[in-house]
Amino acid sequence: MEKIHTDDLTNREIIVVFNQKGGVGKTTTAVNISVCLSLLGMRTLLIDLDSQSNATQCCGLQADCQFGSYDLLMGTATVEQASRDTNISGMRVCAADDKLAGVDLELASAERPQFKLSEALAKEVGIDYVVIDCPPTLGMLPINALASATIVLIPVTPEPLSHAGLHRAWKHIMKVKSHLNNRLDKIGILMTMVDDKDKTRSDVDRAIHAEFGTRVLPIRISRDNAMMEASGKNLPVVISAPNSSGTRNYLDLAELLISWKSASADGKGYERSEDQDIVGRAMILDDIQKIRKILLPMSEHQPIIVGIDPENPWQEPASLPRSPASFNGRHALIIAICGIGLAIAAVFANHMMHAVNLP
Ligand SMILES: Nc1ncnc2c1ncn2[C@@H]1O[C@H](COP(=O)(O)OP(=O)(O)OP(=O)(O)O)[C@@H](O)[C@H]1O
Ligand SMILES: [Mg+2]
Repeated sequence: MEKIHTDDLTNREIIVVFNQKGGVGKTTTAVNISVCLSLLGMRTLLIDLDSQSNATQCCGLQADCQFGSYDLLMGTATVEQASRDTNISGMRVCAADDKLAGVDLELASAERPQFKLSEALAKEVGIDYVVIDCPPTLGMLPINALASATIVLIPVTPEPLSHAGLHRAWKHIMKVKSHLNNRLDKIGILMTMVDDKDKTRSDVDRAIHAEFGTRVLPIRISRDNAMMEASGKNLPVVISAPNSSGTRNYLDLAELLISWKSASADGKGYERSEDQDIVGRAMILDDIQKIRKILLPMSEHQPIIVGIDPENPWQEPASLPRSPASFNGRHALIIAICGIGLAIAAVFANHMMHAVNLP
């Protein structure tokens, strides 16, 4: 498959990855589709709107940058100033930091607070895809993201509670669509962490398909330990494990997204033959190997999540900082030993005094 030239396509897409439910794979999806779109030749900007800064860190960036997505929202920096290049060619990142946590309050008195991000992005040229990672909330940050979206992806894990969460997310998106963004019609439910062998999960999966029909995307992200290992190393899975099922799934998803864009641009749709696919994937894997050479040594210097001993899961890992409780316990023992020592010394001194004063 040839890399697709952006000149063939019209209009930039703004992909918002949203679900107010936590831990459903929003950040993993936002980061990995950004990397895949870039590998497929698209100029991509990833905006991290979550003050947890997970997407920022996953791209090997620190959250202490001078300008980032907060400044973009506040109108104090342009996209150019607020974003930084990455080691992945064509991909820029707008980093998040703690200041984002106060945005709801800070925008409360602003004019048109829901459109701050749309206004900032309206000035931008030279980007094919903006991908926005939302926090697991329903505040002003996701509203700004949804108000600017041309595509919304809703990652959903096939678990019983996720179905109810999906209803809430859907209602929220529909509200934003009718009040703030009526051109938004590409809304896709992305099943993540799918494990077809697990019956309970498959039942929920079927129920979601029955209710939402073609809104559920044909690409599914399978449950893959390589994803967790990748986030432990602060790397996108596409870079950390290029041959994993997660990498294949996210490359498929990126191609699907490009096909939507090219279909609407030329009216013909995006076709992919088997031969093109083999050549294309080989080219991309080649690119990934080049990026790995730069990023893997860097990731070794980043904090890695400390593993739990499967034999004794409740034991505190040795390399974690000691908890205040265990620190105090040790201290108390030292103080007690010192106290006993002092008491013995006092009794001995008293005894000696008496011995000296006696006639
Ligand atoms: N397909 C997958 N298979 C296995 N683990 C996954 C998969 N996708 C994501 N994970 C893991 O699940 C955890 C949560 O993922 P992620 O951070 O992407 O979720 P999130 O929706 O962004 O969470 P939050 O709501 O806190 O922002 C991470 O540890 C990630 O590595
Ligand atoms: Mg997240």
